[in-house]
Amino acid sequence: MFHLILFGPPGAGKGTQSKNIARKYGYIHISTGDILRAEIRAQSELGKRVRAFMDQGELVPDEVLLGVLREVMDREKDVNGFVWDGFPRTLVQAEAFDQVLAARGEKVNLVLALEVELHELVRRLVNRGKEDRRVDDTEDIILQRQRIYRDMTQPLIAFYREQGKFVSVSGIQPIEKVFDDICRNIDLYTQ
Ligand code: AP5
Repeated sequence: MFHLILFGPPGAGKGTQSKNIARKYGYIHISTGDILRAEIRAQSELGKRVRAFMDQGELVPDEVLLGVLREVMDREKDVNGFVWDGFPRTLVQAEAFDQVLAARGEKVNLVLALEVELHELVRRLVNRGKEDRRVDDTEDIILQRQRIYRDMTQPLIAFYREQGKFVSVSGIQPIEKVFDDICRNIDLYTQ
Protein backbone atom coordinates (compact mmCIF):
# COMPACT_ATOMS: atom_id res chain seq x y z
CA MET A 1 0.00 0.00 0.00
CA PHE A 2 1.60 3.28 -1.14
CA HIS A 3 0.83 6.43 0.82
CA LEU A 4 1.71 9.64 -1.02
CA ILE A 5 1.18 13.00 0.63
CA LEU A 6 0.84 15.87 -1.82
CA PHE A 7 2.07 18.83 0.17
CA GLY A 8 2.05 22.56 -0.42
CA PRO A 9 0.33 25.84 0.35
CA PRO A 10 -3.23 26.70 -0.69
CA GLY A 11 -3.25 27.21 -4.46
CA ALA A 12 -0.09 25.19 -5.17
CA GLY A 13 -2.03 22.72 -7.33
CA LYS A 14 -2.50 19.81 -4.91
CA GLY A 15 -6.08 19.09 -5.98
CA THR A 16 -5.30 19.44 -9.69
CA GLN A 17 -2.32 17.07 -9.55
CA SER A 18 -3.87 14.57 -7.09
CA LYS A 19 -6.69 13.79 -9.51
CA ASN A 20 -4.20 13.00 -12.30
CA ILE A 21 -1.99 10.93 -10.00
CA ALA A 22 -4.96 8.91 -8.76
CA ARG A 23 -6.06 8.22 -12.33
CA LYS A 24 -2.61 7.16 -13.57
CA TYR A 25 -1.58 4.99 -10.61
CA GLY A 26 -4.97 3.68 -9.49
CA TYR A 27 -4.70 5.37 -6.10
CA ILE A 28 -7.58 6.70 -4.05
CA HIS A 29 -7.53 10.51 -3.86
CA ILE A 30 -8.45 11.79 -0.42
CA SER A 31 -8.97 15.55 -0.17
CA THR A 32 -9.90 16.47 3.39
CA GLY A 33 -11.09 19.86 2.10
CA ASP A 34 -13.48 18.17 -0.37
CA ILE A 35 -14.78 15.80 2.33
CA LEU A 36 -15.47 18.70 4.70
CA ARG A 37 -17.11 20.85 1.97
CA ALA A 38 -19.41 17.89 1.12
CA GLU A 39 -20.41 17.70 4.80
CA ILE A 40 -21.22 21.43 4.76
CA ARG A 41 -23.34 21.03 1.62
CA ALA A 42 -25.18 18.10 3.25
CA GLN A 43 -25.76 20.25 6.36
CA SER A 44 -24.62 17.34 8.53
CA GLU A 45 -23.63 17.78 12.18
CA LEU A 46 -19.98 17.60 11.10
CA GLY A 47 -20.61 20.19 8.38
CA LYS A 48 -22.22 22.57 10.88
CA ARG A 49 -19.29 22.12 13.23
CA VAL A 50 -16.58 22.90 10.65
CA ARG A 51 -18.21 25.60 8.55
CA ALA A 52 -17.08 28.65 10.53
CA PHE A 53 -13.47 27.44 10.63
CA MET A 54 -13.36 26.89 6.88
CA ASP A 55 -15.14 30.11 5.95
CA GLN A 56 -12.56 32.06 7.97
CA GLY A 57 -9.58 30.16 6.53
CA GLU A 58 -8.77 28.57 9.90
CA LEU A 59 -7.83 24.93 10.35
CA VAL A 60 -10.56 22.58 11.53
CA PRO A 61 -9.64 21.07 14.96
CA ASP A 62 -7.30 18.08 14.85
CA GLU A 63 -9.74 15.69 16.57
CA VAL A 64 -12.29 16.28 13.77
CA LEU A 65 -9.68 15.46 11.14
CA LEU A 66 -8.61 12.34 12.98
CA GLY A 67 -12.25 11.19 12.94
CA VAL A 68 -12.34 11.75 9.18
CA LEU A 69 -9.09 9.79 8.83
CA ARG A 70 -10.46 6.80 10.75
CA GLU A 71 -13.61 6.80 8.65
CA VAL A 72 -11.63 6.88 5.38
CA MET A 73 -9.27 4.09 6.45
CA ASP A 74 -12.19 1.85 7.48
CA ARG A 75 -14.03 2.48 4.21
CA GLU A 76 -11.21 2.17 1.65
CA LYS A 77 -9.67 -1.27 1.68
CA ASP A 78 -7.90 -3.35 -0.99
CA VAL A 79 -6.56 -0.37 -2.94
CA ASN A 80 -3.11 0.21 -4.51
CA GLY A 81 -2.50 3.34 -2.54
CA PHE A 82 -3.68 6.75 -1.43
CA VAL A 83 -2.92 10.31 -2.49
CA TRP A 84 -3.45 12.50 0.57
CA ASP A 85 -4.33 16.06 -0.45
CA GLY A 86 -4.51 18.59 2.38
CA PHE A 87 -3.74 16.07 5.12
CA PRO A 88 -1.84 16.07 7.43
CA ARG A 89 -1.66 19.79 8.15
CA THR A 90 -0.36 19.90 11.72
CA LEU A 91 2.26 18.01 13.67
CA VAL A 92 -0.50 16.40 15.78
CA GLN A 93 -2.16 15.11 12.61
CA ALA A 94 1.17 13.86 11.17
CA GLU A 95 2.09 11.96 14.34
CA ALA A 96 -1.38 10.45 14.68
CA PHE A 97 -1.28 9.46 11.00
CA ASP A 98 2.04 7.65 11.50
CA GLN A 99 0.51 5.73 14.42
CA VAL A 100 -2.63 4.74 12.49
CA LEU A 101 -0.50 3.53 9.57
CA ALA A 102 1.98 1.68 11.82
CA ALA A 103 -0.92 -0.24 13.40
CA ARG A 104 -1.74 -1.49 9.88
CA GLY A 105 1.89 -2.29 9.04
CA GLU A 106 2.01 0.69 6.67
CA LYS A 107 3.80 4.05 6.52
CA VAL A 108 3.94 7.32 4.64
CA ASN A 109 6.10 6.46 1.63
CA LEU A 110 6.63 9.83 -0.02
CA VAL A 111 5.85 13.50 0.63
CA LEU A 112 5.87 15.54 -2.57
CA ALA A 113 5.77 19.29 -2.12
CA LEU A 114 4.69 21.75 -4.80
CA GLU A 115 6.72 24.96 -4.54
CA VAL A 116 4.94 28.15 -5.67
CA GLU A 117 5.61 31.76 -4.65
CA LEU A 118 3.08 33.70 -2.62
CA HIS A 119 2.05 36.23 -5.30
CA GLU A 120 1.27 33.40 -7.74
CA LEU A 121 -0.74 31.49 -5.08
CA VAL A 122 -2.84 34.58 -4.41
CA ARG A 123 -3.32 35.24 -8.14
CA ARG A 124 -4.52 31.67 -8.77
CA LEU A 125 -6.96 31.61 -5.86
CA VAL A 126 -8.39 35.08 -6.56
CA ASN A 127 -9.03 33.89 -10.14
CA ARG A 128 -10.59 30.64 -8.95
CA GLY A 129 -12.80 32.60 -6.56
CA LYS A 130 -14.25 34.56 -9.49
CA GLU A 131 -15.26 31.35 -11.25
CA ASP A 132 -16.05 28.79 -8.53
CA ARG A 133 -17.21 31.18 -5.80
CA ARG A 134 -15.49 29.18 -3.06
CA VAL A 135 -16.21 31.27 0.02
CA ASP A 136 -12.61 31.12 1.27
CA ASP A 137 -11.21 32.40 -2.04
CA THR A 138 -11.43 36.11 -1.19
CA GLU A 139 -8.14 38.00 -0.92
CA ASP A 140 -8.14 38.50 2.88
CA ILE A 141 -9.10 34.87 3.59
CA ILE A 142 -6.57 33.64 1.01
CA LEU A 143 -3.84 35.55 2.88
CA GLN A 144 -5.06 34.13 6.19
CA ARG A 145 -4.88 30.59 4.75
CA GLN A 146 -1.30 31.29 3.62
CA ARG A 147 -0.38 32.50 7.13
CA ILE A 148 -1.91 29.39 8.69
CA TYR A 149 0.03 27.23 6.24
CA ARG A 150 3.29 29.00 7.16
CA ASP A 151 2.70 28.72 10.92
CA MET A 152 0.97 25.34 11.31
CA THR A 153 1.78 23.24 8.25
CA GLN A 154 5.23 24.27 7.04
CA PRO A 155 6.88 22.78 10.17
CA LEU A 156 5.96 19.37 8.77
CA ILE A 157 8.68 19.83 6.14
CA ALA A 158 11.35 19.25 8.81
CA PHE A 159 9.34 16.33 10.25
CA TYR A 160 9.26 14.48 6.92
CA ARG A 161 12.74 15.60 5.84
CA GLU A 162 14.18 13.92 8.94
CA GLN A 163 12.44 10.72 7.85
CA GLY A 164 14.08 11.04 4.39
CA LYS A 165 10.71 11.17 2.61
CA PHE A 166 10.46 14.79 1.52
CA VAL A 167 10.92 15.83 -2.12
CA SER A 168 9.98 19.15 -3.68
CA VAL A 169 8.93 19.91 -7.22
CA SER A 170 8.46 23.29 -8.91
CA GLY A 171 4.75 24.06 -9.10
CA ILE A 172 5.31 27.11 -11.32
CA GLN A 173 5.26 25.26 -14.60
CA PRO A 174 2.46 24.19 -16.91
CA ILE A 175 0.23 21.58 -15.24
CA GLU A 176 1.52 18.76 -17.50
CA LYS A 177 5.18 19.56 -16.68
CA VAL A 178 4.46 19.53 -12.96
CA PHE A 179 2.75 16.17 -13.46
CA ASP A 180 5.79 14.77 -15.32
CA ASP A 181 8.08 15.77 -12.44
CA ILE A 182 5.68 14.22 -9.93
CA CYS A 183 5.47 10.95 -11.88
CA ARG A 184 9.27 10.73 -12.14
CA ASN A 185 9.49 10.86 -8.36
CA ILE A 186 6.65 8.41 -7.74
CA ASP A 187 8.27 5.97 -10.18
CA LEU A 188 11.59 6.27 -8.32
CA TYR A 189 9.93 5.53 -4.97
CA THR A 190 7.75 2.68 -6.21
CA GLN A 191 10.45 0.75 -8.13
P1 AP5 B 1 -8.44 22.54 1.04
O1 AP5 B 1 -9.67 22.24 0.30
O2 AP5 B 1 -7.43 21.47 1.25
O3 AP5 B 1 -7.83 23.81 0.35
P2 AP5 B 1 -6.34 24.39 0.28
O4 AP5 B 1 -5.26 23.64 0.97
O5 AP5 B 1 -6.52 25.79 0.68
O6 AP5 B 1 -5.98 24.10 -1.18
P3 AP5 B 1 -6.66 24.64 -2.47
O7 AP5 B 1 -7.74 23.73 -2.92
O8 AP5 B 1 -7.02 26.09 -2.35
O9 AP5 B 1 -5.40 24.60 -3.43
P4 AP5 B 1 -4.66 23.37 -4.11
O10 AP5 B 1 -3.24 23.32 -3.67
O11 AP5 B 1 -5.45 22.11 -4.01
O12 AP5 B 1 -4.63 23.90 -5.60
P5 AP5 B 1 -5.67 23.60 -6.80
O13 AP5 B 1 -5.24 22.36 -7.51
O14 AP5 B 1 -7.06 23.69 -6.29
O15 AP5 B 1 -8.81 23.09 2.51
C1 AP5 B 1 -9.82 24.05 2.70
C2 AP5 B 1 -10.08 24.24 4.20
O16 AP5 B 1 -10.53 22.98 4.77
C3 AP5 B 1 -8.88 24.64 5.07
O17 AP5 B 1 -8.67 26.03 5.05
C4 AP5 B 1 -9.34 24.13 6.44
O18 AP5 B 1 -10.29 24.99 7.02
C5 AP5 B 1 -10.05 22.83 6.11
N1 AP5 B 1 -9.14 21.66 6.13
C6 AP5 B 1 -8.87 20.83 5.09
N2 AP5 B 1 -7.99 19.87 5.47
C7 AP5 B 1 -7.70 20.12 6.77
C8 AP5 B 1 -6.82 19.50 7.72
N3 AP5 B 1 -6.08 18.43 7.39
N4 AP5 B 1 -6.75 20.03 8.97
C9 AP5 B 1 -7.52 21.08 9.32
N5 AP5 B 1 -8.36 21.73 8.48
C10 AP5 B 1 -8.45 21.25 7.20
O19 AP5 B 1 -5.32 24.83 -7.74
C11 AP5 B 1 -5.66 26.15 -7.39
C12 AP5 B 1 -5.91 26.96 -8.68
O20 AP5 B 1 -4.69 27.05 -9.42
C13 AP5 B 1 -6.93 26.29 -9.61
O21 AP5 B 1 -7.73 27.27 -10.21
C14 AP5 B 1 -6.05 25.56 -10.64
O22 AP5 B 1 -6.69 25.44 -11.88
C15 AP5 B 1 -4.84 26.48 -10.71
N6 AP5 B 1 -3.59 25.75 -11.02
C16 AP5 B 1 -3.21 24.53 -10.53
N7 AP5 B 1 -1.98 24.21 -11.02
C17 AP5 B 1 -1.60 25.24 -11.81
C18 AP5 B 1 -0.42 25.48 -12.60
N8 AP5 B 1 0.60 24.60 -12.66
N9 AP5 B 1 -0.34 26.65 -13.28
C19 AP5 B 1 -1.36 27.56 -13.22
N10 AP5 B 1 -2.52 27.38 -12.51
C20 AP5 B 1 -2.62 26.23 -11.82
